Amino acid sequence: MEQGNVRPETMERITNEALANAFIEEQIKALREQIGDKKVLLALSGGVDSSVCAALISKAVGKQLICVHVNHGLLRKGEPEQVCEVFGKQFDVNLIYVDAIDRFLDALAGVSEPEQKRKIIGKIFIDVFAEEARKLEGVSFLGQGTIYPDILESHGVKAHHNVGGLPEDMQNFELVEPVKLLYKDEVRVVGKALGLPDNMVYRQPFPGPGLGVRCVGAITRDRLEALREADAIVREEIGKLPETPWQYFCAIPDIVSTGIRYVDGKGVRYMGWAVVIRAVNTVDAVTATVPEIPFSVLCKMRDQIVKIPGVNRVLWDISEKPVATIEWE
Ligand code: XMP
Repeated sequence: MEQGNVRPETMERITNEALANAFIEEQIKALREQIGDKKVLLALSGGVDSSVCAALISKAVGKQLICVHVNHGLLRKGEPEQVCEVFGKQFDVNLIYVDAIDRFLDALAGVSEPEQKRKIIGKIFIDVFAEEARKLEGVSFLGQGTIYPDILESHGVKAHHNVGGLPEDMQNFELVEPVKLLYKDEVRVVGKALGLPDNMVYRQPFPGPGLGVRCVGAITRDRLEALREADAIVREEIGKLPETPWQYFCAIPDIVSTGIRYVDGKGVRYMGWAVVIRAVNTVDAVTATVPEIPFSVLCKMRDQIVKIPGVNRVLWDISEKPVATIEWE
């Protein structure tokens, strides 16, 4: 492992605001030294790691940081808006918002194989990011929200791996990774001290391909919209529980079943989608159990979800991992 990628044994675990502030001060100094008067480019998804990384770099070098937020159409309800609000307005960073929704969804149309979907999403993401980068002049650094578990899990290769995904003409960027020696809980404490909103700092894990792996099979825009609405309901209601599960979300399989709607007092049959509610507890995502959700909460979600156009059925997934994976794809 590279020397700078090893967490010193003497490094204290960042568990409170005072320690977070000390870390922030230290990093601001180090970032200013590393970056000088050059520019840094960062792909900002709105996830906790990239957000904390962006907030730190922006505190250190202000407008020398350029963030690119790619909206691939597979984000959760309200996420792109929050990135623009928090980083565009509150932190006042140089933020390039790219609406690439059509590009992603057009490329995904008719593609049902999960790994193929992931590949398409990953490739277009790199293409869009690279196109934006090429429009800019004088960028020397690439900011990345690499955290310590990424380094441990990939034996230090993840960072290089990610750069490896970029086209050749963009591989000479030097990396800026201010949180690379931190564990996830520490990243959250630092994020809070930096003034990031709680729902950004404490948000549950969300896969890179986003809702793409939860809109099962070939993604259609109407089914994806139904999923996004259902997901917002589930996040809201389960989020109110005194103890929230590790991850909770919806999936929407590519099947329809019979429903009934009353028109002028007369029952009319029609075909609609089934929304699946999934909630899991896990330590490492390798195995997962299913927590109890009060039946009244399930019913409250059901009553709202069946009002979403096209949806006529709500299911509660009680499968553990193994045998089921956490995601549906
Ligand atoms: P599975 O479905 O394999 O998921 O039980 C384990 C954890 O990994 C997340 N996950 C992903 N994260 N890209 C990601 O960044 C992916 O393609 C992906 N697939 C699954 C999943 O949300 C869960 O937390």
